[in-house]
Formats: sequence, C-alpha cells, structure tokens
Amino acid sequence: MKFENRAAIVTGGARGIGRAIAEELAREGAKVVIMDPGLAKDGIETEGASPAEEAAEAIREAGGTAIVAAESVDDHEACGRTVELCKSEFGSVDILVNNAGVLRPKMIWNMPVESWDLVVGIHLRGQYSMIHHSAGYMREQRWGRIINMGSEAWRGTVGGANYGAAKGGVFSLTRAMARELGKYGVTANTICPAAATRLTLDEAVKEGFRKRLEAGLVTQERYDAVVNMGGPEHVAPFVSYLCSDDAANINGQAFRVEERKVAIYNDPEMKASLVKADDAPFTTEELRKLVPSALLQGYTNPAPAEAES
Ligand SMILES: NC(=O)c1ccc[n+]([C@@H]2O[C@H](COP(=O)([O-])OP(=O)(O)OC[C@H]3O[C@@H](n4cnc5c(N)ncnc54)[C@H](O)[C@@H]3O)[C@@H](O)[C@H]2O)c1
Repeated sequence: MKFENRAAIVTGGARGIGRAIAEELAREGAKVVIMDPGLAKDGIETEGASPAEEAAEAIREAGGTAIVAAESVDDHEACGRTVELCKSEFGSVDILVNNAGVLRPKMIWNMPVESWDLVVGIHLRGQYSMIHHSAGYMREQRWGRIINMGSEAWRGTVGGANYGAAKGGVFSLTRAMARELGKYGVTANTICPAAATRLTLDEAVKEGFRKRLEAGLVTQERYDAVVNMGGPEHVAPFVSYLCSDDAANINGQAFRVEERKVAIYNDPEMKASLVKADDAPFTTEELRKLVPSALLQGYTNPAPAEAES
C-alpha cells in the first residue's frame, strides 16, 4: 500500500471532497485525522462531531484507521492541537490536505465584513495555520505533502469576492510553500476541483439553474453539464497520486480536477511590456498612445460597461 506508515490530516474531511480524499488515503494505508466541526454550508451552524465521526467510522469499517478532531481551521490554536493529535496518535504528520471550506456569497456592496472575515479566515488563514503547525515536522523528517484546495474562482468570479480572493491567496500560498519547503522533500500543490457536493449542487442551486434554463439564460448543454456533474470520487485519486512518492518532483503547481479530466494551469507570467529608452518616467500622453497599441493587443475587458436601461 502506498501510504503504509504515513499519517494524514484532512480538514473538512467529514463531507464531500474531503471525505472522498480521506477514504482514498486510508484505503492506501494512511492513518487519517479528520478535522471537521461539522459546519453548515455558510459556516454558521454546527452539527458538531457527528458527520466527522460517521466518516471516520466508515473508514474503520472498511479496515482503515481514522480518528476525529472536531475543531475549526479558523482557530489557530485548534490547528496546533490537531497537528499534535496526529503526531501523538500516529507518530508523524506526513500529509496535510487543506480542504475545509464554506460559502457566503453576496455582491461586494452587500457583503458584510463578517462574511469577508469568515470566508477568508477559513479558506486562507486556516490553510496558513495548518501548514504553520505541520511544516516543522515535515521539514525535520524531510518528507511531506501539502495539498491546498483552491477553486476556479481565483481567476475571477461574480458574487463571491471573499471566496475568490481567498482562493487567489491559496494559489499564492501554495507557490510560496513550494519554494520554502521544497528543498526539505516537502511538496505543496493546489487543486481546483469540480464535484457535486452540498457546496456546489444542492437542491437550491439545481432549482436556480432550472429557472435560468427556462428563462433562456443558460443553454441546455450548460444545464446538463452542471446538474450531471461528477462526484468527489473523481477528485480523490489525483490527490492520492500527488501525495505518493511518484509525485515527489511535482511542486508548486495548480491543477484542475473533475470527472474525466485533469488539467494544469500555466504559471502567471508577464505577457508583454513597454520599456523606456531614457530614464524619464512615462508621460501620460505616451501611455495613452502605447498601452492600447503595444501592451493590450488581444485584450478583452471581462465586464465592459453597459448602457443604463
Ligand atoms: N465541490 C466543488 O465543485 C468545489 C469547487 C471548487 C472548490 N471547492 C473546494 O473544495 C473544498 C471542499 O468542498 P466541498 O464541495 O467538498 O464542500 P462540502 O460542503 O461538501 O464539505 C466541506 C466540509 O468542510 C467542513 N468545514 C467547513 N468549515 C470548516 C472549518 N472551519 N474547519 C474544518 N472543517 C470545516 C464542513 O463541515 C464540511 O464537512 C472547499 O475548499 C471548496 O472551496 C469545491
């Protein structure tokens, strides 16, 4: 088995993608800590330890090893306690899957600061806290795998700036971790998944899409693709692969993973530049002429202004 003698922490491992990953790692021999306080989709209400206990029990029934930390990743000390639990119960901290997540969508002008703080706190600061507490052990043992759950939303989204900004931060966090920890045999990669879970495809979302189809706002093809989206079982094997020794040299990358598809994002890079021949700052007149013709060739505004109706 790939992960015999490995210990893993999966945050948000009670449901959805996290649960599928926890099960996949356990099937390959990893001892798993499921860190999940059983939060509702919006991160407010809690069901406590029961969803995580249920997920751990399913792993144990299948012959694997799993325990629960019903703790929240937005509590820095709780992240430390969970890492220590993994170390004391299983002897090491080898694999960290930063997967916990919630949604609080609103347009920015309606978004309360509490929703900003909660979403950024869980998705971004939570990943920092888990890595902060785990990295020392991984560095010392010169082996570690960090998987940070990102999202396509990092490329630009509407109605969820808190989520998109947090996921953009995740992308940068991963790239920084790859550079800080790579030389110690620790890799960090981002996964941008697509899978039917309660976060993405509950009844309200399906109903919303059905209405948009009826109103002609989405095509039948798009509607079918959304409502028939594959489940988390399509994401877990790739995570397992990245955590294996076979993927020791894959570091600092971002992957898209969904049913029947795995893709890699390109590295952000400068695609064009203007360079002054002399030392004087660009004048606004020079920029007015040169930016559209030399810098923005092939450029499209993602949201051009619309005439008031
Ligand atoms: N499902 C998708 O298509 C999709 C797309 C893009 C990104 N993602 C990302 O994948 C991850 C998992 O999403 P999912 O769709 O499986 O969601 P899900 O709602 O099915 O599961 C998320 C789990 O995270 C737990 N959780 C929430 N807040 C937590 C906290 N503070 N501490 C610990 N656990 C917490 C929840 O209790 C839940 O069990 C998230 O980071 C999400 O942003 C999912």
